[in-house]
This record gives sequence, C-alpha cells and structure tokens, in this order.
Amino acid sequence: MEENRQIYPEQFKFQIQSIKEKYPQAFLPSDARSGLPQAIIGIGALTHDTSAALVSLETGKVIYAVAEERLSNVKHDSRFPIGAIEQCCQAAEKEGFTISQVAVNFHAVEFITKTLKNEISVILNDASRSEGLFAKVIDMFDGADSYCIGERNQTSTKIEEELRNYHVTKEEARQLIPRLTWYFNAAIKYQKIGNIISELFNGLPVTFINHHECHAASAFFDSGFKDATVLVIDGHGEADTVSIYKGDSKGLTLVSQSTWPHSAGAFYLAATRHLGFDHGDEYKVMGMAAYGQPKLFSELAGMMDVGEDAVLRLVQNEYFVRRDVAKTGHTRFHFTEAMGHLIAARKSDEPFEQKHFDFAATVQKITEDIGVRLAQRAVELTGERNIAIAGGVGLNGLMNEAIRSSGSCDEIFIYPAASDDGTSVGAAHAYILRSKDIIKKPNRLRSCYFGHNATDEEIKNALNAAKVKFSSPDSINKAIALALADGKIVARYNGPAEFGPRALGNRSILANPAKKDMKDILNLRVKHREEFRPFAPACLREKVDNYFEINTESPFMLLIAKAKKSAHKLIPSVVHADGTARVQTVTPEQNEDFYATIKEVEKLTGIPVVINTSFNVNGETIVDEPLDAIESFGFMDIDFLAIGKYWVSKVENASLFPPITHDEYLGKRKERYRRKNLDPLSELNVRAYGPWFFFSEQKLNEYLASLGFSQEGA
Ligand SMILES: [Fe+2]
Repeated sequence: MEENRQIYPEQFKFQIQSIKEKYPQAFLPSDARSGLPQAIIGIGALTHDTSAALVSLETGKVIYAVAEERLSNVKHDSRFPIGAIEQCCQAAEKEGFTISQVAVNFHAVEFITKTLKNEISVILNDASRSEGLFAKVIDMFDGADSYCIGERNQTSTKIEEELRNYHVTKEEARQLIPRLTWYFNAAIKYQKIGNIISELFNGLPVTFINHHECHAASAFFDSGFKDATVLVIDGHGEADTVSIYKGDSKGLTLVSQSTWPHSAGAFYLAATRHLGFDHGDEYKVMGMAAYGQPKLFSELAGMMDVGEDAVLRLVQNEYFVRRDVAKTGHTRFHFTEAMGHLIAARKSDEPFEQKHFDFAATVQKITEDIGVRLAQRAVELTGERNIAIAGGVGLNGLMNEAIRSSGSCDEIFIYPAASDDGTSVGAAHAYILRSKDIIKKPNRLRSCYFGHNATDEEIKNALNAAKVKFSSPDSINKAIALALADGKIVARYNGPAEFGPRALGNRSILANPAKKDMKDILNLRVKHREEFRPFAPACLREKVDNYFEINTESPFMLLIAKAKKSAHKLIPSVVHADGTARVQTVTPEQNEDFYATIKEVEKLTGIPVVINTSFNVNGETIVDEPLDAIESFGFMDIDFLAIGKYWVSKVENASLFPPITHDEYLGKRKERYRRKNLDPLSELNVRAYGPWFFFSEQKLNEYLASLGFSQEGA
C-alpha cells in the first residue's frame, strides 16, 4: 500500500526542472525581472476541469489559457494541469513575460475547516466536544501523514488518541471515521499538491484563493460592469455552493453564501445520474427538457428553496434525503427508491421514454425558478441591477435566459468558461482585484480565443506530413460559404482555440441551417450522438433579431432565445423542439474570419446564420493540434476541412482516408495524446488515493473492534 501514500512520483522533480530549463524567461529571479512585463499564472487545480492561465499583472489581460482536457484528451480532466502550466510558461517565453505571482483556485485549509468542522459538530452534537476535537484535528493537519484505518502511522495513532480523549462512542465513531478519512486525506493531498506548485515556481509567492471568489472574479473582472451583483452557482467549492458578491471599485465583497450539501449543481447532477448520464452530461438533460413537460413539478419543486437571505436549501422529503455516499463519508442528497413511483432511475443503455423527458423538463424548471429567485434576492441584497454569473450552473443557458427575461436585472454577463476551467483565469483576476493598486477594469470580454494557435507553417507542415492534397483559395471564407450554401459540411480550424466548453468558430463544424434535415444528418453522419441534442446557430450580431427574440449580444452561446416565425421557416435545423435556440452572435471584433464567413453565406443564401457545433466526435475532447484536426476530419463524415488558409476536400483525398472503425480512431487519438507524456505529474488526482479514502463496512467494523470501542465509548 506504500505507493498510495506517495503523493507524487519522484520523477516529478525532473519534470519540473525540465519545464524551468525550457522556459528560463518565465522563471527569472526577482532581481532579473526589472523592466520586463510581469505576469501572474492562475492555476485551476484541485477540482475538476483543471486548467492554467497566464495573465498580465499590469492590465489583467489573458495572454494564454487552456484546460488540461485539451492536452490530455480526458474530458473534464481533474488531474494536475502540468500540460496547461507548461503551455502558459511557453507563452510567457514567447510573449516576453516573466512570471512573478502564482494564484491557485482552491484553499485547502478553508476546505477542511469548513467541511470537517461541520461534520464533526453534526455527529457529536455537543459544542465543547466537537470544537475540542476539531481543534486537535486541525492542529495535527500541518505535515500530517494520511489517515488510513488499514495501517497504523503517527497520524492514525494521534487521531485514535483524540477519539478516546473526547469519549467518542462507537456509533459516533462509525459515522465520524469515514468523514475524517475523506476530508482529512483530501485536505492533505490538496496541501501537498500546493507544495508541488510552490516547488515548481520556486521563490514566487503562491496565493491560494477561495474557489467561489475565483469564479466571481472571472465573471466580474471581464463583465464591463463598474458595479455589479455577482452570482456564483456550482456543485461546490471548498464547501460553498452559492455565493453572492457585490463587485465595485473596491473589488469583491461577499454578501451571502450557501454551503454543502445544499447545492443546485449537486441537485442537477443527481438528476443527470438518475437519467443514466454522468458528471459533465448536464447539458444533455437541458437538451432533453425541450421534449418534455414539467409534470412532476408539484411533487419535486419543494426539494430546493431560497430564503430571504438568498441562501439555498435542499429540503428532505420521501423522494430526496441526505445520506452518506457509500465509502467516502462525503454526504449529499440522493433521490430515494420511492422516486420509482414517479420515475425509476434509467440505466445508461435503456431507451429514452417520454417520462424521462418530462423528468428532465421538471428538473430544468426547478433550476430556472431557483436561479431567478437567487438573482432577485441577490440584486435586493447588493442593490446592483447588473448581474455577472459564473460557476458550472452558469452554463445552463435556459436558466440564464430565465434570469435575463425575469426583469430582476438590467444586464447580464456570463463568463464563457463558467465551469471550473475558468477558475484559473479567475484566480489570477481575484489576485488582481484584491490588490488595491488596481488597474482599470477592462471593457466587457467579447471573445475568448486564449488557447493554442498554430502558425500557417505549422499547419502546412501537418498537411504535408499527413500527405494530404490541399489548396490555398483566394478567400478561405468564401470557399467555406460556397460549400455551406451547397449543403456541404465543413470543419473549421482557425487561429487560437477557444477557452471554455464551446467552439465559437475556431474549432467548429459548420453547416447550413436552412436545410431541414441538417440536424439529423449531422447527428447521424458526424456527431454520432443522441437525436434530442440541438445544434446552435451562429448569427451576425446585427441581424440576430430578425430570427430570434433577442436583441442583445450573446458571443459565448450562453443565452437561449425563442426563435421567431421566420426562423422556424428559414433555418429549421437550429430551432429546438421547444422553439428555442442557443444563439451565438458574431461581430468582426470578436472573430474577423468567422464574421466574414457568415457574411459570405448571407450573400449566397440571403441568410446570415450558420450551424456551429464543436469539432469533435461525441464523447471526445475538441481537436487541438493541426494533425489532430486532419486525422479527425479524415475519420469523420465531413466534406471539407478549412484549416488556417488551406482547403482540404474529402473526395480528393478519399484514398488517404480509408474508413476506419470508431475504436481504431479512438486508439489513434489516445496514442497521439499518450505521446505528449504529461505523466507523471498529470496523475495527481485527488480522488486516486486508494484505501486512504475508500474502505468496506467490514474493514470499518474490524477497525472499530481493534480500537476496543464499546457502545458506551472507547
Ligand atoms: Fe466550481
């Protein structure tokens, strides 16, 4: 079991050293930095969707940002973002920045303080005993070993001593030990990963920032609002589930906070799992909602409530109870067996029935109602009518639209990387907002192309390496438009990659929304995904209200609008079953090439709208490198690839791209990513901690017996 206690392999020193040697400018010592532009590196580690961002300390501008999943091909990757950090160091070297600050998106000590303290006090139900025991546990936290019931070490011995000192009963110990195991070990691992970050950026100050403050900073900093209500809703941070801040010239002031397990994100995830999906599939539930009616609303709506204090509470009833997650001690709410009356849990391979769509519609409506009520209360508390939103639940476009159209706010801004990937940028912006010698906040963010940008030469080399026949049309945008007007499907790879979950024209598959069957063609031929999933329209900003009930910008596809009658008729493929569309508005300032492409389409067809879906196979991450784009194009049933300024036709290269099976394609892609060799640091996954987190009921019983617990006490 020794290797389980090993937080990181020994090779990590070598890997860290090699990054420092490759990018010396990024790691200049303080006396050599004067006169050079300074940057802060934000690190989104310790949660899911890990990432890194390089941000100018002088202006707050993002120089580079990327989620680890784009480099590892592991969706929602929660491992240490060593690949993303290395790319940020490379960007610093290339752009002439030197790194002088580090900010991390999570606070390990706050995590254990907020979570374990609460758990101990609930179980011991006696202030003096619970406070005493918690103080002892915190005392031993710094420099502690892991706590494992299967093996004695110094920490286990100390904890056992304290259980005796505080006269913990057998029943209390039975509840306490799984929680201690989970929270204590997680916090130790978080802290040790923090030490790795310190070691990597030797000598630089590392600031660990509350997770929700990072989300809030990402939204407020780029909102363009001078003063704002900032609303963060996600699964949870250290223990926080909803946070409301007032943002103004002084930075961010916390106004209200809800805590675990009262979590809208966890509620939506529980529903997502009830429907046979998993974490990260929440958007599928949102897609399903359009095909159902909220028929279970009266039975389920009482499960979530928002008080006058803007605090969210999940409420237990016969369908919904708080209990332990098996093995971990991390408590949360669950749907009960009694839900079977209303709707039984769907297994992932079972067919969808109408009742599943109705359940999705119910959960969606509950979430929208809660979002609107939180926004209303938040605005009342802060007195500011402009709202900036972040946190994973902020990706729920229908909820955002419900807030926008509820009349509770004037303007709304949602950070494009609203989920945890955005907290690397958020950590850097939180640090900047905390500094009082502040820079002027920038105008509203309207584009987020912060990632990998292949040069023309790199693209050409990749095309040649793949032995692909290609051409350089006079205007690549015209070539794309001509193909789209002709009903063809075009993969577009251009410029820097988007930051956040959506492809916004640079790593996109484009098609013609006027073709009635294009949605089915794309789902069947290209994306191989559930037929209820909608496709989004990208529309010229100035024409958006010709087709949709919206006349505001939506550059990141995070607002959903009702389609007008004209849209139902003219662009049927992007109108969802409930008559809505997840709109992206496009301006030349945002993306010159993408705007020009849609403009050309308009000249040819009269319609300034294209279908824009991400350039990936269902379940895979979005393509990142040119060769990956070429190989993915080869596998996917797409007619053309427009890569940089080059044009590739599938027909002309038919012999180069013989049909391969899905598994063969995935195998190739896996191999491509394996070659990046992100190990061993990328293996740092907080949950991969073996028996220190997880043990059986039998082991727990044996342990309790070994400690000599009787019913009365130790
Ligand atoms: Fe989060």
